[in-house]
Amino acid sequence: MNRYQISTPEGTRDLLFAPARRLRAVEQRVRQSLEDRGYSEVITPAIEYYDVFAQANPAVGQENMLKIVDRAGRICVARPDNTTPIARIAATRLEGAELPVRLYYSQKVFRSIAEGHGHKSEFLQVGAELIGSDGLEADLDILTAAFSALEQAEAGSFRIELGHAEIYKALIEALGVDEQTAEDIRRLIENKSFAALGDALAPYQGSAAYQALCAMPQLFGGVEVLDQVEHMTGNMRVLAAVAYLRRVYTALEQAGFGESVIIDLGLVHEMDYYTGIMFRGYLGGAGAAILAGGRYNALCAKFGRDLPAAGFGIDVERIAETGSEADNRQVRDTIRIALTKGRLEKKTLARMKAAGYDISELESPSRKLIFRLPDTNIEVVLAKAADVITYVEHGVCDLGVVGKDTIMEKGGSFYEMVDLGFGKCRFALATKKGKTVYGNYRTPVIATKYPEVTRAFFSRKNMDVETIKIEGSVELAPLLELADAIVDIVETGSTLKENGLEVIEDVAPISARVIVNLASAKMNKTAIQRIISDLERGGEEQ
Ligand code: PRP
Repeated sequence: MNRYQISTPEGTRDLLFAPARRLRAVEQRVRQSLEDRGYSEVITPAIEYYDVFAQANPAVGQENMLKIVDRAGRICVARPDNTTPIARIAATRLEGAELPVRLYYSQKVFRSIAEGHGHKSEFLQVGAELIGSDGLEADLDILTAAFSALEQAEAGSFRIELGHAEIYKALIEALGVDEQTAEDIRRLIENKSFAALGDALAPYQGSAAYQALCAMPQLFGGVEVLDQVEHMTGNMRVLAAVAYLRRVYTALEQAGFGESVIIDLGLVHEMDYYTGIMFRGYLGGAGAAILAGGRYNALCAKFGRDLPAAGFGIDVERIAETGSEADNRQVRDTIRIALTKGRLEKKTLARMKAAGYDISELESPSRKLIFRLPDTNIEVVLAKAADVITYVEHGVCDLGVVGKDTIMEKGGSFYEMVDLGFGKCRFALATKKGKTVYGNYRTPVIATKYPEVTRAFFSRKNMDVETIKIEGSVELAPLLELADAIVDIVETGSTLKENGLEVIEDVAPISARVIVNLASAKMNKTAIQRIISDLERGGEEQ
């Protein structure tokens, strides 16, 4: 039998019995909570024209949309996002309606996903949009709807983090850098890459925005982070946004949600989309955000009617899958660290030992893969480099130690918080002595174990290259005339030298990094920061 006859596409699945009942129960509770607050359901088509989404929401790139060509040759997509169609409705169908309008939806979104990452290509979202009102009252209206929905979903203990789009926008404008530099800085803040952000901002030490921008990835936690940023900058736009967040925080506290609110001034995703408050919800044991929302005052205007709006979407499937509160508590009580087997493992363990952890079981030879450190709530997992990223991204491990080479090649959603400073080497472009890849009319052929790193390097140079993936001893490829050059790791340089090759250009420095799961960083901040500073401190004592 043809396998496509009996299986479902990548990222989709059948839900039978208990999981189906659980999903519908969570969905129903969230819907009810929104209906109780006066939101009315809208249902939009599962298929819409590509043009609806192409410009409106840059967060879903065209490569992530599932496309269909209709009989007339027009490109349609399976709905990749729920807010955009609602903005279309608000701008085109609500003429004469009394504002604000409260709408909610409970429908699937569809994405075209890369194979083998365990991501979903369809999932059910329930969300709310408050259209036609602006200001504190409106923001509190939508935020309290979000808190109540998660409470009513009986999802276990959750946190909602708050940020404000103006903070990054004002600081980066004050820094006065070009678009590419601004994007590089934004990405480093988003990934909480403290060390790399410091390097990127080093040339701007004289700028008034410098200190606050450097601190942005660390400015998450309780209301005290608002005090901290107020001492770092006199930028009026930033101070106004911070004062606003303080009012929101106080109001949420008064409404009884104080325990569940955290502040993250490093929320800088989708900066073209959000115009005011931004928020994301996390649940213990769910590896990624279960709720995302904010104010997006510029979206409806893209469909021809200028209306302020704010809203959020809840990933009810992730909530249903995360299980009961008791399970969550158990997950949260143990902090799991994934170490990259081999050299990085040894160096990381040396640091843990220097910091006072008992790692004797890991030092004795065995084939065991999971170890509980005595007298701690820490579990150490040994994995291959790329798998460290997979485990951390999915939240089954809270943090991991992995080389920058694997991070650059594999990418993913996690915080890259610390450069541990060991495992140092570099990516370099190399070829036979005296040869070059530049200045030819021919498209150069590059052999590499790292096709993504190679593509990114040459695309920054606006150069087309053909990459050939090689699994090891990449130096052979130019010697055997399969490729013009290689992009590979160089440590001592002896492999290149002994094979008559030389570096043409450095691509990027590499060292061991600590990566942290997005939800764990928020739900277990103190425990994770203690482990990170132990790893750093161990370095000083070595
Ligand atoms: C890495 C890299 C180079 C070599 C560089 O290979 O791919 O081949 O080390 O080190 P050097 O500059 O100190 O000579 P690895 O030993 O991991 O084996 P592989 O090529 O088979 O992957």
